[in-house]
Amino acid sequence: MTSWTDDDAPPGPGHVVPSGPEFEGEVDLSVDYLGMRLRSPLVASAGPFTGDLPSLKALDAAGIGAVVLPSLFEEQLEHESGQFEALSQYGSDANPEAPAGYVPNLDDYNTGVARYLNLVRDAKKVTSVPIIASLNGVTTGGWTRYARLLSEAGADAIELNVYRVAADIEVSGRQIELETLALVEAVAGAASVPVSVKLGPSYSAFGNLARQLADAGAAGLVLFNRFYQPDINLETLAVGPHLVLSTSDELRLPLRWCAILHGRIDASLAATTGIHTGADLAKVLLAGANVGMTPSALLREGPDHAATILGELESWMQETGYGSVMEMTGAVSQRTVRDPSQFERANYLDTLTRYAGTFLQ
Ligand SMILES: Cc1cc2nc3c(=O)[nH]c(=O)nc-3n(C[C@H](O)[C@H](O)[C@H](O)COP(=O)(O)O)c2cc1C
Repeated sequence: MTSWTDDDAPPGPGHVVPSGPEFEGEVDLSVDYLGMRLRSPLVASAGPFTGDLPSLKALDAAGIGAVVLPSLFEEQLEHESGQFEALSQYGSDANPEAPAGYVPNLDDYNTGVARYLNLVRDAKKVTSVPIIASLNGVTTGGWTRYARLLSEAGADAIELNVYRVAADIEVSGRQIELETLALVEAVAGAASVPVSVKLGPSYSAFGNLARQLADAGAAGLVLFNRFYQPDINLETLAVGPHLVLSTSDELRLPLRWCAILHGRIDASLAATTGIHTGADLAKVLLAGANVGMTPSALLREGPDHAATILGELESWMQETGYGSVMEMTGAVSQRTVRDPSQFERANYLDTLTRYAGTFLQ
């Protein structure tokens, strides 16, 4: 098991790290997420391998609790309906607005609605765990129909990824929030299965928005989207995408927000970004997440790594005295921890003072 430093060792039940005998017997890894009972708290987050049937089988064999399929993108749906409209016009350039010219070619990632629905059906056939379909977009157009189709194809839940960069300087934060809430309400209203919302952290009052999302029908929140920042190639001056897989250092942002929101909103919490080891998973569960999601660790190490992460979690629970994951969920959340201010501004002051202390010695 990845070792803990004295400073970050989490407390066991009753906030005291037990020094007595290890927990005897098997620990119970099952959790509740989006109203479903999962056999373990590790979920394979949306990524290329969750769209691949052999990888799905391997993830299932490794003990994963559920799978989120790669997203179906709004641009893809617009592209498909644009093509349909273009075909129904007379003349090849009758519809100059058809989005074919500026939509990235997503065919290598995820080949359209019909195949996506087949992927949902096939994923259900080859795995024993809940399958969560993923919609990725920010406008309401069309989503309600697809939410319905995905539930009908057998998806156990839908994850709605609101990946948005607020680049329009005419649009206020409140307007973006209202649009997001309307979208969630529409999709959650149309789907016959639970809908979770995956979003980024860049909202002015995230806790308040989280509560409004739960009120709008979100059964869960997935914290957080990891934004891919563009880079400039100094030789060609071209601007392009830049994808670097995460490391455990990035865990602390979702950890903080799971800790703040745990027990305060009526929705499940999933932490995503930076979960690579059993220790990372233990931390987000203690903070208050119901599940941890990872693609980066599995992309780096392969689907079998899920078993390693779960094995590490299990060992830590046995050493620490936790008999079940549900018992440890939220044990170090803001509501339960001795010093709740550590999740807020005090943490900033503490961090600076501690660092200055070591630097000046
Ligand atoms: C190659 C790759 C493809 C991804 N595709 C999707 C996707 O289709 N939909 C989505 O919601 N997230 C997608 N993600 C984001 C991940 O699901 C995850 O939320 C994010 O990478 C943070 O987790 P990590 O720290 O383990 O990388 C993708 C990530 C990677 C690395």
